[in-house]
Amino acid sequence: MAIQIIKANDYEELSALACKKIADIITQNPSAVLGLATGSTPVGLYKKLIESYQKENLSFKEVRTVNLDEYIGLPKNHPNSYHTFMKNIFFSQIDILESNTHIPDGTATDLEEEGLSYERLIQALGGIDLQILGIGHNGHIGFNEPGTSFHEQTHLVELTDSTRKANARFFPSLNDVPKQAITMGIGTILKSKEILLLASGSSKADAVKQLLSGEVSIDFPASALKNHPSVALVADKEALSLM
Ligand code: F6R
Repeated sequence: MAIQIIKANDYEELSALACKKIADIITQNPSAVLGLATGSTPVGLYKKLIESYQKENLSFKEVRTVNLDEYIGLPKNHPNSYHTFMKNIFFSQIDILESNTHIPDGTATDLEEEGLSYERLIQALGGIDLQILGIGHNGHIGFNEPGTSFHEQTHLVELTDSTRKANARFFPSLNDVPKQAITMGIGTILKSKEILLLASGSSKADAVKQLLSGEVSIDFPASALKNHPSVALVADKEALSLM
């Protein structure tokens, strides 16, 4: 299926378009299940959603969320865990119930069981209505690095050097970036009813070009999205500059 392309002039507009999409879903279905991402790209979207909560009475009281991934070995309250990121940047500023927010546990002793139980959880919630994704420079989605089967469910991954370097900006030093993560698999992501992929800035232009004009291949994980019936890419001019 072709990926629908939604063009934005800049990051501000990209964030507003993604916010509108989520607000529409919540208005139609107040207990929608949202799949959420971390990283820099969705930060503007979360800011806009907080504004909608504050100024337009958009309520998250019944919304359920499942995040894509978490680093292995970082306790939930670690300053660099995705639990902390989501809490600080989004959850603590809206009316969502903490018990309705879910992120894989990177400190679980049995990580295989943690992956299976995350899959059971998503199923028990009724599946993901809308999954938000960013894209890595190497085409990763979630932490599914090149070479990952499109059928994988939530699982443990070794992070590539390029991903660790790209994420080092959030940590005191590269050495502090964990080498492993637990992530929804591409199979998990493809089960979402709808997917919104966000790409901003010239550093994502190569990945966007590869996604839109390259083959479907496990060497470029985001290409799996072409096998999904309802994917929209919201990208700004810079991210689309090579198209
Ligand atoms: C985040 C995630 C990653 C990021 C990707 C892009 O939960 O799963 O796939 O979406 O690494 O990151 P940014 O947005 O920081 O460029």
